[in-house]
Amino acid sequence: MTTIGLAGAGTIGSGLIRLLGTTPATRDWKIKTILVRDLSKVRIGLPALAKMTNRMEDLTDDPEIDVVVELLGGVEEAFQVVSRALKAGKAVVTANKNLLAERGPELFALAARHRVALGFEASVCGGIPVIRLIQEALRADHITSLEGIVNGTTNYLLTRMSEERASYADCLADAQRLGFAEPDPDYDVSGKDAVCKAGILATLAFGGYVDFRKVPTSGIDSLELEDIRQAEAMGYRIKLLASARRSPEGRFDAEVGPVLLPLGHPLASIRMEYNAVLIESDGLVKTLASGKGAGAAPTSISLLSDLLDIAEGRARVPQLDHPFLGKPFDQGARGTAPSRYYLRLSVPDRSGILAQVAGLFACHDISIASVLQPEVPDEAGGSLVPLILTTHTTTRARLDLVLASLASEGWGRSVVLRIQEN
Ligand code: NAP
Ligand code: HSE
Repeated sequence: MTTIGLAGAGTIGSGLIRLLGTTPATRDWKIKTILVRDLSKVRIGLPALAKMTNRMEDLTDDPEIDVVVELLGGVEEAFQVVSRALKAGKAVVTANKNLLAERGPELFALAARHRVALGFEASVCGGIPVIRLIQEALRADHITSLEGIVNGTTNYLLTRMSEERASYADCLADAQRLGFAEPDPDYDVSGKDAVCKAGILATLAFGGYVDFRKVPTSGIDSLELEDIRQAEAMGYRIKLLASARRSPEGRFDAEVGPVLLPLGHPLASIRMEYNAVLIESDGLVKTLASGKGAGAAPTSISLLSDLLDIAEGRARVPQLDHPFLGKPFDQGARGTAPSRYYLRLSVPDRSGILAQVAGLFACHDISIASVLQPEVPDEAGGSLVPLILTTHTTTRARLDLVLASLASEGWGRSVVLRIQEN
């Protein structure tokens, strides 16, 4: 029999309770105590015999509880619960990517020292067993790069904006209602959720701690339907991509941001809340893992698979050579890889502006491939109008110099997307 202390009974906690209730293998398991913030909230579907508490010690210090499942979200309180449970010799299962990306080295060190399992399959890509794939199956290969759609909310938004021309705000509200979005959806749309997941996957794939805070990150919060329309007219689809690569010389590069992908790219056809990760390795060359990446049901499957491993004594206890305890990577400044770019600038609606912008690009030796200034009806026009450009191959570092000059003109925000050719 497994006795669980459940920290959090929100979207994912309730989903796990539902799944446990319908899984024959867990019939004799017991959720003994449930930690929540607000004891006065009316809740339905919770196990009748579970004790509700707002004191974490009721989980971490209870000798009858074997496993603590952390589904609080956030970092500080979650760290307190998880670290205290590990120190008490309890196995832990978590879906919290922010926690692991930020405090993973401390937590895996604690798990190794106290010889207890720390399951985290649910922290990346919802129901896709991508952590098992990297940690178990691909252990026998040498991974050179990862590229993935690892956030379901943003992929759901981008798909619906593209296919239905639905508004960003409506799609985000639906993603929240469907349980895909984080408690604070800014984490999704700003790229923060994706970069935490990228940090976890890259750490596991390359064997040393990757600090997500040093990974250049942008989100989809400044994208407009116009960008989606333009990308499609050029034969691309916009996806929020997380990528990480290690060169044979040991150089490490990672990036998270919206990218224009050619329609034939394997990640371009991943729709709605589905996620996918494309792994390149010496032996298998390309491996694609795809499936539902967000929502209570798929995430609960991953949580339950970790719990079953623990209950059946098959869970791996982290050792001192765990990737999170490996030497941190030297994460240099970005900007040296050659690429083409798409830009939507907001420029003043006056004569000579096109020449001025073109001059700035020429100044930094960036060749412009195409220019479009969609006509804005007089009554809709303000002092700034959109100017859409694509470049020939350049580097991000060089483009940043142009963007800095544009910003110093005080011309409002610009949208910059990398164009990926294959
Ligand atoms: P949620 O709906 O906001 O639920 C959070 C739960 O934790 C609530 O029951 C809340 O209590 C409780 N809680 C939060 N802070 C607490 C504190 N300081 N003390 C005591 N209780 C506290 O969040 P969620 O969407 O279920 O997400 C949970 C975790 O799963 C997050 O780490 C998230 O990133 C991760 N995750 C989500 C998905 C997804 O598809 N949504 C997928 C994978 C992973 P009250 O009920 O009293 O407010
Ligand atoms: N908010 C996250 C997403 C949940 O949309 O991908 C899954 O981690």
